[in-house]
Amino acid sequence: MPTILIKLTGERADPYIAAVKKHAPGFDIREWPDVGPAEDVDAALVWQMPPDELVKFPNLKIVVSMAAGVDHVLRDTTLPGHVQIARVVDPSMARSMTQHVVMSVIRMHRDIDSFTRRRGERWWPGPHSFNSDDFPVGFLGLGHLGTNAATALKALGFPVMGWSRTPKSVEGIETFHGPDGLDAMLAQTQCLVCLLPLTGETRGILSAGTFAKLPKGACLVNAGRGQHLVEADLIPALDSGQIARAALDVFETEPLPADHPFWDESRIAITPHDAAEVHIPSVASLFVEQITAAREGRAIPGLVDRDRGY
Ligand code: NAP
Ligand code: GLV
Repeated sequence: MPTILIKLTGERADPYIAAVKKHAPGFDIREWPDVGPAEDVDAALVWQMPPDELVKFPNLKIVVSMAAGVDHVLRDTTLPGHVQIARVVDPSMARSMTQHVVMSVIRMHRDIDSFTRRRGERWWPGPHSFNSDDFPVGFLGLGHLGTNAATALKALGFPVMGWSRTPKSVEGIETFHGPDGLDAMLAQTQCLVCLLPLTGETRGILSAGTFAKLPKGACLVNAGRGQHLVEADLIPALDSGQIARAALDVFETEPLPADHPFWDESRIAITPHDAAEVHIPSVASLFVEQITAAREGRAIPGLVDRDRGY
């Protein structure tokens, strides 16, 4: 049986190995870098493998991203073109991302942070309205995660729109696509939620130029990748009132450096890249199927289009 390499960052591999072996007891899984002869390795399960390493395995057939995003795999320009790339597409991950997005949107819509901030003043505001009809949410990305979260917010009574690269039809959601579609959606969006993959086309999409196309005082949720946001543009947008509040789960540098100005900004809610969880029992059978399909030459679930970048 050929070898499967596993590489995680900041997590132990044992629980993943045990969960995968429950479905495929014969799998030989070894934690990188102690994987034995390089020519035995035909599959890799990775999160943030250093670039230039996978090319050392001449019989590698498939790289499985232990995450929904594959930017961490595609940044390795030495990965041979014939190696297939697959990613996590999993209902339990969609569920946890939806919970994060719903929490962030409602927290901003109801301005929960101001109650926490002003608690010391015994602040008890007068009557105020928070009708969700007046808080249209626009999603950048209507894929596996975006569609799930958009549908949940719609069910909670928010007007919801979504933008994708290609045309899409999702019940109850007003959809847009392409560059012209983006401007049309931004003009009507009170809360912008980014659930895009990081590609050449989407890097830096959350910029001053994009913020200027939103109604003044709009809110921002970024749970895509830190590189979607031009970080230097956010605090000026908050200071001008163009953006009222932001909830960021991902950052250009992670962990967010201790001296980063976002830490001191009460208008930015920070979570530590934990919007969506990879639930080990749920993804283990997917990993087994992805590796087995690659070995047998069958269609691979969650296959990534390398040219498209996601
Ligand atoms: P997905 O199913 O591949 O969906 C991607 C969506 O983005 C699709 O709707 C796609 O359009 C759209 N898109 C891609 N490029 C575009 C462009 N240039 N213009 C307009 N739309 C574009 O991905 P997913 O599973 O929903 O995951 C999305 C991302 O979430 C991941 O790549 C990852 O970066 C991030 N993520 C973050 C966390 C976290 O914990 N913070 C966890 C999981 C995932 P089409 O529908 O037309 O293809
Ligand atoms: C996490 O960021 C993921 O892409 O799954």
